[in-house]
Amino acid sequence: MAYKINDSVTWVGKIDWELRKFHGEELSAHRGSSYNSYLVRGSEKTALIDTVWKPFAGEFVNNLKKEIDLKEIDYIIANHGEVDHSGSLTELLREIPGTPVYCSKAGEKSLRGQYHQDWNFQVVKTGDKLGLGDKELIFIEAKMLHWPDSMFCYLTGDNILFPNDAFGQHYASELMYNDLVDQCELFEEAIKYYANILTPFSKLVAAKIKEVVGLNLPVEMICPSHGIIWRHDPLQIVNKYAEWADNYSENQVTLIYDTMWDGTRKAAEAIAGGIKEANNNINIKLYNAARSDTNDIVTEIFKSKAIVVGSPTINKGILHSIASLMEMARGLKFQGKKGAAFGCYGWSGESVGMINELLEDAGFELINKDGLKMLWNPDDEAVAACHQFGKEIGSALK
Ligand code: FEO
Repeated sequence: MAYKINDSVTWVGKIDWELRKFHGEELSAHRGSSYNSYLVRGSEKTALIDTVWKPFAGEFVNNLKKEIDLKEIDYIIANHGEVDHSGSLTELLREIPGTPVYCSKAGEKSLRGQYHQDWNFQVVKTGDKLGLGDKELIFIEAKMLHWPDSMFCYLTGDNILFPNDAFGQHYASELMYNDLVDQCELFEEAIKYYANILTPFSKLVAAKIKEVVGLNLPVEMICPSHGIIWRHDPLQIVNKYAEWADNYSENQVTLIYDTMWDGTRKAAEAIAGGIKEANNNINIKLYNAARSDTNDIVTEIFKSKAIVVGSPTINKGILHSIASLMEMARGLKFQGKKGAAFGCYGWSGESVGMINELLEDAGFELINKDGLKMLWNPDDEAVAACHQFGKEIGSALK
């Protein structure tokens, strides 16, 4: 399929309605995704910006042939080497060998490293321009947003920013544009994408936004490499990114636990009651980590002022759903958030101490240095202690 965006730009990507896991099995994509590729025709030259993921390479090239004689593609722009965007280069360049591939210096390394091909690489840096006749593409390196090779490009005349992964969403929609889709769905996917992919690079996001805004380039449309195109008030997503990059939190606390025989669940609910009593306005959410989507929980952590993490002790350790989630939180480097730990035990009781260490290692400031541990299943006294622990947490978050 191809969709005309305007007189010079045509979308030639792939909407992947079936996608449910991305980055292997690491990232959930409940609403599918798209791999957006754009054909840009100037008065003299034509450029193709990015391709699509390898499983769709054959379909991509066949559809592209229906849109244009491949020999008329003068330039290929590889804004990013990750396979969801570069995965069809081999198939495409088999048809049009020698076509220059414009990419960043790190982009060449990444593409050579993944495909082991001696393609006609043309390395560009911020400020370099590629003329298409009546308009040109300007390149802007975007190192670590989210790979070292990531790059944006900007089309003069039409004033379109092609920021690759930035401002994207894993969101399949034939409606294509931000003003046509369900706004709740769109922003749910946009914040999940930011929380799970861009959080560690927030300082760089803020700096890049400042740099791009400083270029004073008018932006009429933002065409990312996943999800919908921002054409109505396109800067709204840039403003959202600026907000999300700045130690973002909402008035929310999230309790995340796993439980074997309901003791730690019972404790979580009693803690939630205490938080509510002390801080009636805060949004309290509870997730059993073993029964919930990990990336959805990560999004809730991103939105939270604090997380309260619970696991019973097993084999002198913690349940693996909590261990896995805490490893993800460590890598994502959340900023400015608080944490607390709790859990049941029967004899050795290491879990709470371990969660405290994991919270601190992941950058969370402990609300209570000891946390709360309960021997066996909580009795009325232990439930009251949980409630009190919750009240302390609720008060600390006012
Ligand atoms: Fe959509 Fe970093 O690839």
